[in-house]
Amino acid sequence: MAITKVLLTGASGYIGGAVLAQILKSNHDDVRISALVRSSEHADIIRNLGVESILFKGLDQLDLIKASASEHDLVISCASAMDLPSCLALVEGLAQRRASTGTDVHYIHTSGTLNFGDHPITGKSFLGIRTDKDDIFSWEKETQDDWLLRKVDIGITEAGLRFGVKTYIVNPPIIYGIGNGPIHKQSLQIPALINLSLGFKQAVVLGDGHGIWTIIHISDAARLYDVILQKFLQKQPIDSGRKGYYFVEAGETTWKIISQAIARAGHSQGLFASAELKQLSPETFVESLGIPFLNAGMVEVIWGSNSRIKGIKSRELGWRPEVPIGIFADSIVEDFNIISQNVSA
Ligand SMILES: NC(=O)c1ccc[n+]([C@@H]2O[C@H](COP(=O)([O-])OP(=O)(O)OC[C@H]3O[C@@H](n4cnc5c(N)ncnc54)[C@H](OP(=O)(O)O)[C@@H]3O)[C@@H](O)[C@H]2O)c1
Repeated sequence: MAITKVLLTGASGYIGGAVLAQILKSNHDDVRISALVRSSEHADIIRNLGVESILFKGLDQLDLIKASASEHDLVISCASAMDLPSCLALVEGLAQRRASTGTDVHYIHTSGTLNFGDHPITGKSFLGIRTDKDDIFSWEKETQDDWLLRKVDIGITEAGLRFGVKTYIVNPPIIYGIGNGPIHKQSLQIPALINLSLGFKQAVVLGDGHGIWTIIHISDAARLYDVILQKFLQKQPIDSGRKGYYFVEAGETTWKIISQAIARAGHSQGLFASAELKQLSPETFVESLGIPFLNAGMVEVIWGSNSRIKGIKSRELGWRPEVPIGIFADSIVEDFNIISQNVSA
């Protein structure tokens, strides 16, 4: 039996950890997984799951990243949607593998639906509902100077076409729920909003919070990566390259609904004086958040925009969301409880 060697980045993270847990749960006996990790503590935890850990200094160590990829048939990238050089090193490493084995090689990249977010506060209006059947590649190519993630998607896709590496871009929307990966188990956007709200002792919302976003539970998002892996194992070709975009979604919410759930959690626990929302401008939001590389325009997209998608092609692969959307509000409370306990500890 031929063994497929899979390399994972971001295995200690929320998405990568859940992808790792999903692949291990599927128990493919013809798959060996390795993970690039940057701490020996994480390496030990991951090794204990039966996964080979490769220690590296970080995404800047391009030679090691490329050499690692050259030893694998399929790479799943969950470390950064923004870091093009490391992604290109992975693609080039896979191209070396193809040259030495003569077999197909594949690269699955985690991007995001920030790519489709608008600027409802400062003016640019709703960009429409995108589906993964649309020509996302051409649209991203035309507009790539407006948003870094689009540039990364395009760079990867074009490198894949140049080097004969089959690329797939997975665009998750807001991912919610506690992850089942081995290390980091909480998402980004909702937990950041909770942290900010705890700082103000009142639930915050950016602008009027009317922006609509698509949502997906972490376990449903992680399953798509495994579905793509299974297609590879079963030698069933699927769209890649320019047509290799896949969306995961299960429903929609608004930023106001999210902030209201945070307000109820904080107020019922006596941490917030009221359940009213505090409206922040993008400038105040970015200042309070204190993340150096973010500016007002970026936070407007990340926490205030409309970003709406439909995953048609992902469903055609056999993927379906399984987690009932009704648990969404409870999952915000779960996030809130973990974060508020950590803050008060
Ligand atoms: N969560 C979402 O809702 C969502 C939705 C769409 C897209 N995305 C994108 O998907 C990516 C992963 O998200 P996530 O939620 O899984 O984030 P996360 O929990 O912060 O995980 C990030 C992972 O990448 C690794 N990493 C980050 N920077 C690195 C560096 N410079 N060198 C080496 N390893 C590095 C981290 O390793 P350490 O443990 O060593 O830090 C960790 O394993 C991000 O780019 C994010 O923007 C996230």
